[in-house]
Amino acid sequence: MSSHTSPGTGGTGRKPVTLNALRELHARGEPVAMVTCYDASFAVACDEAGADSLLVGDSLGMVVQGHASTLPVTLEQVAYHTACVARVKPAAWLIADLPFGSYQEGTAQAVRSSVALMQAGAQMVKLEGGGWTPELVRALVERGIPVCGHLGLTPQSVHALGGYRIQGRTEDGAATLVRHARELRDAGAAMVVLELMPTAVAQQVQAAVPEVITIGIGAGNVTAGQVLVLQDLLGLTRGRLPRFVRNFMEGAGSLDAALKAYVAAVKDRSFPDNAIHGY
Ligand code: KIV
Repeated sequence: MSSHTSPGTGGTGRKPVTLNALRELHARGEPVAMVTCYDASFAVACDEAGADSLLVGDSLGMVVQGHASTLPVTLEQVAYHTACVARVKPAAWLIADLPFGSYQEGTAQAVRSSVALMQAGAQMVKLEGGGWTPELVRALVERGIPVCGHLGLTPQSVHALGGYRIQGRTEDGAATLVRHARELRDAGAAMVVLELMPTAVAQQVQAAVPEVITIGIGAGNVTAGQVLVLQDLLGLTRGRLPRFVRNFMEGAGSLDAALKAYVAAVKDRSFPDNAIHGY
């Protein structure tokens, strides 16, 4: 995209990725490559690299806004970034995060907030947590809004969890994750992000809900797909990175090459390497 391209005339010429297309990828065992994205320029770059899905994550609170957590991010801000990404008409399936405080009050608030994100251009919304969320998921799915769940480390609950810690390490913890995944599936969630858990636990979860497209981040090489935060995979994040991150800029030579290397490594399952990136 040149900076002179009119908004709305972008697009990379790829066939649009639908939810059915993602289900077909999963059914034939082809990993789904997802990356977070918050603006138009990167949306084109990620789309051209062949990403199957873009996630306007509330991680934008950290990597765009400079906050220490995702908690300060508002619905209006996620809607704004979703619109920035959607405007270039990426072929990739576009998911937007329901931020903290936009669904915790219950079904009516979750529906209202999700409608705002869908009107901004999202094709699916993502919400965190299990146990209390299936009721919301059911209400959204019944109203035509596809939903992605998010289990394991749920960053909006960082204070309740006592930090960014690996989840599901005990037998009880693993069993709870499996139960929550089944409940999300039964409520209609088509996809579930599994964040920061032992590879063996992610494997148990995927086996318990084989039809659900599980997307791992710090969950090993056993999920139906992978997601990374864009700034992490491009080596832009300073300080100590979690072990599950790989800097795809190393040896890539250009941003476009790094993004393509990420997509290729997810597709051929060379990323993540359980021995290096797994728990
Ligand atoms: O907000 C985000 O970027 C996310 C991913 C890390 C899954 O939720």
